Amino acid sequence: MRTCHVLLSIFLYVSHVCSALKVIVDPDSHSYRIDTKHETVLVGSNIAVFVAGRWCVQGATEGEENIWPMELHNSQNISGVDPSLGSFAGIAIEWNCVLKDNDVVPLVTSFRNFNGTAVVLDLKFPNGATGTSFDDPKASMTNFPTFSLPTKYSYLSWHGSFIQSTRGLSEGPQGGPTVFFKPSSSSSSDDDDGDSIDAIVGSPWIDFRTMKAFTAGTNKDYKGQSAWAPGTSARIHELPAGYTQSFILYEGTGITATMYEWGQAMQRSFEPKLEDATLTNIGYQTDNGAAYCFCKEANCSETLIHEIADLKANGVPMGYLSFQGAGTSSGRGQAAPWCVETWGVDGGLNADHYPLPVKDMQEAIDIPVQLYCPYFCPTTKYFDDDGQWSGVASDPTLPGCKDYEFRDVAPQQSKEFYGWFMDKGIKAGMKSFETDFMNQNYNCVPAFIESASAGDTWLSGMADAAWERNITIQWCYATPTDLLASIRMPAVTQFRVSFDFCYGRSWDIGESSLLVWALGGKPSKDTLWTSDNGKLETPGCSWTVDHEAPAAELHLVLALMSTGPVGISDAIGHTNFTMAQRAIRSDGVLLKPMKAITAVDDTFLKEPGSNYLYSTFGLGPSWIYVSFLSEDRMTISKHDFWPALEPGSDLVYRHFHSSSACTHNSDPLESACIAGLVVSPTLLVGESTNFQIPMGPKQPQQKDRSPYAPDITYVWQNCIDSKWFFLGELSKYVPLSPSRFQKVTCTATGLSTIVIGAPGERVQLTALEPNYNGKDDYKIVIVPLVIPSEGKIQVDFETAVTTEIY
Ligand SMILES: *[C@@H]1O[C@H](CO)[C@@H](O)[C@H](O)[C@H]1NC(C)=O
Ligand SMILES: *[C@@H]1O[C@H](CO)[C@@H](O)[C@H](O)[C@H]1NC(C)=O
Ligand SMILES: *[C@@H]1O[C@H](CO)[C@@H](O)[C@H](O)[C@H]1NC(C)=O
Ligand SMILES: *[C@@H]1O[C@H](CO)[C@@H](O)[C@H](O)[C@H]1NC(C)=O
Ligand SMILES: *[C@@H]1O[C@H](CO)[C@@H](O)[C@H](O)[C@H]1NC(C)=O
Repeated sequence: MRTCHVLLSIFLYVSHVCSALKVIVDPDSHSYRIDTKHETVLVGSNIAVFVAGRWCVQGATEGEENIWPMELHNSQNISGVDPSLGSFAGIAIEWNCVLKDNDVVPLVTSFRNFNGTAVVLDLKFPNGATGTSFDDPKASMTNFPTFSLPTKYSYLSWHGSFIQSTRGLSEGPQGGPTVFFKPSSSSSSDDDDGDSIDAIVGSPWIDFRTMKAFTAGTNKDYKGQSAWAPGTSARIHELPAGYTQSFILYEGTGITATMYEWGQAMQRSFEPKLEDATLTNIGYQTDNGAAYCFCKEANCSETLIHEIADLKANGVPMGYLSFQGAGTSSGRGQAAPWCVETWGVDGGLNADHYPLPVKDMQEAIDIPVQLYCPYFCPTTKYFDDDGQWSGVASDPTLPGCKDYEFRDVAPQQSKEFYGWFMDKGIKAGMKSFETDFMNQNYNCVPAFIESASAGDTWLSGMADAAWERNITIQWCYATPTDLLASIRMPAVTQFRVSFDFCYGRSWDIGESSLLVWALGGKPSKDTLWTSDNGKLETPGCSWTVDHEAPAAELHLVLALMSTGPVGISDAIGHTNFTMAQRAIRSDGVLLKPMKAITAVDDTFLKEPGSNYLYSTFGLGPSWIYVSFLSEDRMTISKHDFWPALEPGSDLVYRHFHSSSACTHNSDPLESACIAGLVVSPTLLVGESTNFQIPMGPKQPQQKDRSPYAPDITYVWQNCIDSKWFFLGELSKYVPLSPSRFQKVTCTATGLSTIVIGAPGERVQLTALEPNYNGKDDYKIVIVPLVIPSEGKIQVDFETAVTTEIY
């Protein structure tokens, strides 16, 4: 399949896949099916919608009990251009649901083919519909598209709080997109990649404007037969005129590659996400699991001021403080967890422990704050009946809503209310806002879930208020539909993808991050410690093995490579500065990779939870692999490379812990600075499928080490012409971060780069020079430098000359 992949540019990894996905509609029966190049994958079942209290079904005959017949009204060929998918051709069919007294509910189903890569299926209600609800909180009231389940495929989906993955179909309004995948059929003759993966992403398409109306359904059609039947939630009582749901099927090769391409199409050309200090810089956090989450000292304001000063004095300067104390109230036990009665910046702060107002504390620490407000306690004064704002209330008797008694703003007032509310935080130095329990926040509120648009109005009100104020938002405990809705919201930058650090397992981010990354969000792994903090147990967080010292590095490395926040929360005196400095520049800017770290493709062909091999990449591209919790030494195979390997390059690899230090002028292989060299011909021709790179050896002395200690392996490719390798800054976890290098250029005979950093910062770069002494081997070249006052400097490796840039 590789011949079909074309690397368009270094920053836009779009491949032309040999796909031939199309929807075929039978001209007589109007049944539909989805074909790939080789086979029919999905077979559509009868179109059906629940209107006026009954199912209206294609092909039903008049008089059939409890069914409205669906009559064909018209059909026409359609064609056009979509801004991100290109041109399409297809067919639109108009139907009428014939109710009693010959009342009709018109529908339009359209089937659009996008030249082999994608199929889009829309269902529109030109006049809207009433009586669309029935008593199944998970079900869809639409059976279009609805397909019998493809037998040769495995399924991957995402569902529920923290957007967790499932190796199966998700269900209900907490469900999400589905990937159908299988090892490639190696039937095509030019295919030497028998072990690549064919993938089809099935998802709400970006034209589904009310993503919160989506349900993944019950995986049954209206007759109760097994089916993939996502659609519009049957909790919704009526649909407005013009209501349209839209689904896409997107085909590609490789799970990561296909997710990326589908996600790029979904993001179309919306405003780019706002710049976010909680993403660019390391920060200090006080949320659940943090050493100072439940600070009970007499002057916790002072403790935080001292802690932040201490970190700075030790070369780990914080870029922000995430101050959860500002939002807490006494609600726990009587109302929903962490609900806000009166916000901390609005007089709600507990002065017994936080004597300084947030604004005074923020001025003392001199960095922005992130403030937290999940929802409001039932007794909050913000939604007084005679006040400025109206509230809506949760219903704790709804499924999954026990213990969640709270209020939110009425959707039509969301934007004004959140603007008014956030302005209180901005006066106290807020640059980022966190909302939590997003799952319950939506799914427990009847006024949101029974409406086709209220949930989206509420969310976009909050996001628009933030955007107008240049405030960024993290949504915590969110579900896939929150993420889908956020594509249009440039202020919503990040989503939590793990359970709390407090409870353990917050390293399990590789599959949840895949969806967040594909859709343009930044995954958040939650707070972390850089040491065991003297085996501290904070309230509610009993000691877990992944709070041991060896796991600290895993948490830090994954948080950094997630591209989300790196929010440390050690008690004062417990930070491992050496380790923290491997993640940052001297000014606290995070040295992140180019993509969120995610589980490699091979993961999905194995038992869930049986292998943790995650990957990301730096400039070059250069690849980074992190493994943990594995009995055996893991290996990286050709299909675990994303972006794909470039033909013609050689590769070298190195292990962060077990490779030796690299010294100037020595031989990289002999000195064990690099662990191995793979020369291109053996890699890309003939034996290609056997090519494997081992992760770091589990050495005898490491036998007793914690399974949570990460193994980190780097793979670099060389310049095609000059054969130089640029290894970058090897003392950092991400040696080739875009926050360190503005540019890396392969010249005809060498290599040059522009290095960025904090003035006065010392940086040491490593490269490998080819063919020294006319031999077929390499020599290590080390260039130490100091960042000048302009913040950048150019380095030419052939001559080892550095040039200041103005
Ligand atoms: C509609 O498109 C189909 C397939 O491309 C074609 O066979 C048919 O003639 C078209 N019908 C009309 C009315 O143009
Ligand atoms: C559709 O794909 C074919 C084959 O790749 C290409 O030649 C053609 O230009 C494409 N058409 C459009 C409208 O993009
Ligand atoms: C928005 O905030 C960012 C920092 O978070 C800042 O760099 C940027 O200049 C601000 N933009 C505007 C328009 O104020
Ligand atoms: C708490 O600490 C701050 C900062 O050191 C100080 O300004 C303030 O007076 C202290 N307040 C009390 C009540 O001790
Ligand atoms: C800090 O972390 C590094 C890397 O994990 C480790 O080698 C070192 O022992 C730690 N330092 C302390 C004081 O624990």
